[in-house]
Amino acid sequence: MSNPSILILPGDGIGPEVMAQVTRIIDWFGDKRDLKFDVETDLVGGAAYDKHGVPLSDETMARAMEVDAVLLGAVGGPKYDNLDFSVKPERGLLRLRKEMDLFSNLRPAQCFDALADFSSLKKDIVSGLDIMIVRELTSGVYFGEPRGIHKEGNERVGVNTQRYTESEIARVARSAFELARKRSNKVCSMEKANVMESGILWRDVVQEIHDAEYPDVELSHMYADNGAMQLVRAPKQFDVIVTDNLFGDVLSDCAAMLTGSLGMLPSASLGLPNAEGRPKALYEPVHGSAPDITGQGKANPIACILSFAMALRYSFDEGEEATRLEKAVEKVLADGVRTADLMGPDGGTPVSTTEMGDVILAALD
Ligand code: NAI
Ligand code: MG
Repeated sequence: MSNPSILILPGDGIGPEVMAQVTRIIDWFGDKRDLKFDVETDLVGGAAYDKHGVPLSDETMARAMEVDAVLLGAVGGPKYDNLDFSVKPERGLLRLRKEMDLFSNLRPAQCFDALADFSSLKKDIVSGLDIMIVRELTSGVYFGEPRGIHKEGNERVGVNTQRYTESEIARVARSAFELARKRSNKVCSMEKANVMESGILWRDVVQEIHDAEYPDVELSHMYADNGAMQLVRAPKQFDVIVTDNLFGDVLSDCAAMLTGSLGMLPSASLGLPNAEGRPKALYEPVHGSAPDITGQGKANPIACILSFAMALRYSFDEGEEATRLEKAVEKVLADGVRTADLMGPDGGTPVSTTEMGDVILAALD
């Protein structure tokens, strides 16, 4: 049997810097845990534009469709700001998301105790927090028709349409239930069934999928506005939250900030399962290419490293190895190792991107 395959797309700015640390960690798992991957590296974003004149070549797109997981760094930067819209670096990422049909966006909010002081909430409310927001990514009000701005009499009217089909709801619900089975087996679905028909359908379909296919998972429903309140009041009551594109956009950013720095936040976007039951998958840090610190060795590689941990858990069914990696990150943070973005007001000496990689590898050993 061949090894599972990974396509690495470091991209632009700090993307290659943080991805270099992930590559070392992938090698560590091959050497020390006999967990071998077939890794290939290619270009995306501005880096692809510089070479091919497009932010994602057809060849790269084709490989992305074939591999078991794609790991992406970040795209964009000031050098490319004046490019035509059709070849902007972001278009490379959008093409990947669209052609891989990545409808399920996973945004964890995980609080490392050593960083609990970074939270805007009290330490005991966030300490030990580990929740996952599953946001529907390819439908809903950002895509529904009709849309636009038109004139009615003397004034302008702006229109967007929230639209969900049963199958769109069902597939993201399945994705959430599958995740829950790999976690604490609990899903809370959020909508506004009290005021939106699409919310009524959302609630019905999630319940039906649950009853027919995932009766072992504990399911609850909540109105999304209450969900926002509960997230800042008592976030630890949740495990997996599944919600639509618009509510998910807001709730995932809100949940992310419960735990602090942008340099710490991983994400995944999943599509339909292939023949082996592995979902199409793209893993990437939430942050961008950070042009302000590019090339200075200041970037925090943890968001990208934790994105690989998600790949281990959700693409490769290596939950224990994912935990091993997360524990190594937890240990170095507990030991007080900090990149510049994690320095508190009392200062100290930050480590570089590579040094952070060094200590995480040492902690893995
Ligand atoms: P950004 O996330 O790149 O940076 C925001 C701030 O956070 C900056 O001060 C940066 O130095 C800091 N930061 C980000 N990641 C960090 C890390 N790993 N370690 C330490 N500090 C970190 O967002 P910004 O500045 O709005 O965008 C910069 C470029 O990135 C733009 O071209 C934008 O289009 C692109 N971008 C790309 C994304 C992607 O590839 N998914 C997402 C967001 C922005
Ligand atoms: Mg957002």
